[in-house]
This record gives sequence, structure tokens and C-alpha cells, in this order.
Amino acid sequence: FPDTFQQAPGVAVHGPGVRALAPAKVNLYLQVTGRRPNGYHELDSLMVFADVGDIVEASPAEDLSLSVGGPMACRLGRELPDPDDNIMLRAARRLAELMGVAAKARLHLTKVLPVAAGIGGGSADAAATLKALATLWGDPDAADSPEVADLALALGADVPVCLAGRAMAVSGIGETLTPAVALPEAWLLLVNPGVGVSTPAVFKARQGDFSRAAPLTTPPADASALGAALKSRRNDLEAPARQLAPVIGQVLDGLAATAHCRLARMSGSGATCFGLYDSPDTAHAAADALARAHPEWWLAPAPLRRG
Ligand code: C5P
Repeated sequence: FPDTFQQAPGVAVHGPGVRALAPAKVNLYLQVTGRRPNGYHELDSLMVFADVGDIVEASPAEDLSLSVGGPMACRLGRELPDPDDNIMLRAARRLAELMGVAAKARLHLTKVLPVAAGIGGGSADAAATLKALATLWGDPDAADSPEVADLALALGADVPVCLAGRAMAVSGIGETLTPAVALPEAWLLLVNPGVGVSTPAVFKARQGDFSRAAPLTTPPADASALGAALKSRRNDLEAPARQLAPVIGQVLDGLAATAHCRLARMSGSGATCFGLYDSPDTAHAAADALARAHPEWWLAPAPLRRG
């Protein structure tokens, strides 16, 4: 292993290894525009990132292994029926093949984000694994190659945008990425009621016509203008997700009722919803109010990543 690592964005040298952040992905809107013969759905979505996430660490080792810790680690039990088939380990093996190196690394995941939650936890972990290992294995730029973009899409529809790690207008099933309009300073309050929702089940339950959403073209001046611009766009998965997990309606109503909330919507296929706020003070005040009423909910106030 090289003595010094070149750093890729979001990747930091950490002791003998590297550490990569896996920030939460949030769909500010998500409209379903079509369905492919293989069952996957085509989307128009504005995907952004919040400054809260999992942490992936990769360090030199003689074989490939994964350990998990952190506040949400216990929730991973049912998501890891076969530890050998975990998305991070699959990402590692395929990247090693592509780079022509042996798949050797000790991976450690600090799980902070709720699981099966519509904020890209597994996808973000896979993307962070690709970035960390490209760096550990001596070629950080490998993570930006078209081959790794294909590998990312094969791992999951949200992995390419997580690899990009910045706000994108996304279409196709998740592979067509266009840098989003400049976003204003804003805060998100992520709220998950502790109910896992199955993405395939939500897509399957969706009814109604397909509709396109025009991307935002004028940079919104502030969170309030961003909220206003998003009002005419929606999350087409909200209705089917609410059918499967009615508590989502309670979360959305709770968020919408907090002071200074500019918009309340669900992210991805749920169940995590977000409120949009102008400032850390208003986002934290909303989190405090919801925590008092629903101590069992997971609440994360976090700035919207603008870079
Ligand atoms: O790609 P990923 O593993 O995240 O997708 C999980 C499931 O969600 C897919 O098997 C598919 O049923 C559904 N899906 C979809 N259209 C997308 C993304 C996911 O139908 N664009």
C-alpha cells in the first residue's frame, strides 16, 4: 500500500486507512415518468445531500471483511441476510476486478442513517466504499471513471448520484445526472418514524399516469423561494408509501405544522420525510417540538449540502 494517499472529494486519510462520508440523499421532488420492460421506473428527480450520514472506513488487510457499528447497526440485521452479499462487499469485489487488484481491505461501517428509509443509506454506503477503496488501492481517480459509473448503476439506481455526491437533476432510472441549479443556504429536518418501507413494494403500489417535472432553472434566492419552486413538483411515491405505512401521513402533517417550515415532503420511497427551513435555529426548534410529541421518531436537522 502507498505511504501517502491522494485524497478524493469526501475522502480523508485516517490512520493507516481512509475514511469516506456517506451523506443522506434527499429527493426534493420525484416524479415517475415511465416504466421500462425490466420493471424499473424512469424518474425526474432533484436529488440533494444533507450533512448527516454514515461513515465508511477502509484499512489495509489480508482479506476482505466488513464490520458494522453505530446507532443504527442493530437495524441492519434483517438487511444482511447473507453478509457475503452485502452491497458494500459487492462494490468492493467489483471495484477490485475493475482495478485489477486483489480485493483486500478491512471495511467498517458506522451506521447513523435509518435503514430502508428512502434516503439512500445502502446506496451512499456503496458509493463511499467505492471512493474509499479507490483511494486505498492507490488510484482515487478510478472512482470517477465511466466504468465505475456503470458498476455503480449495476449496484443500485441511486448509487451513481451518491458517487457524484452533489445536487443533481436525475433522470433515466438514476443514471442520467445533470448538475442542479445553484441551491440557496437551507436546512433540512429529516424525520423517520421507525418503519422500514420496501422500495419495490412502493413502486408496485403506485397508480396513475406518468408525468414529467421540468428541472429548476432559476437559482432560488433562499429556502423560502426554493420551497415555493418545489410546490408545483411532487413525490409520486408518497401516496403508495402512505398506503403501506400510514404513519408517513402523521410525519408530514407534523413537519408541515412546525414554525417556519417552507415545505414538507417524503424522500425517495419513504418512510423518511423532510422539512425545509431557512436556518439552523428554525430546523432545531422544529426537531425539538417533534421530539417532544414523538420521542420514538428519528430526527436529524442538517444543512443542505451546496457543493
Ligand atoms: O436499484 P435499487 O436496488 O435501489 O432498486 C430497488 C427496487 O426498486 C428495484 O428492484 C425496483 O423494483 C425499484 N426501482 C424502480 N425504479 C427505479 C429504482 C428502483 O422500479 N428507478
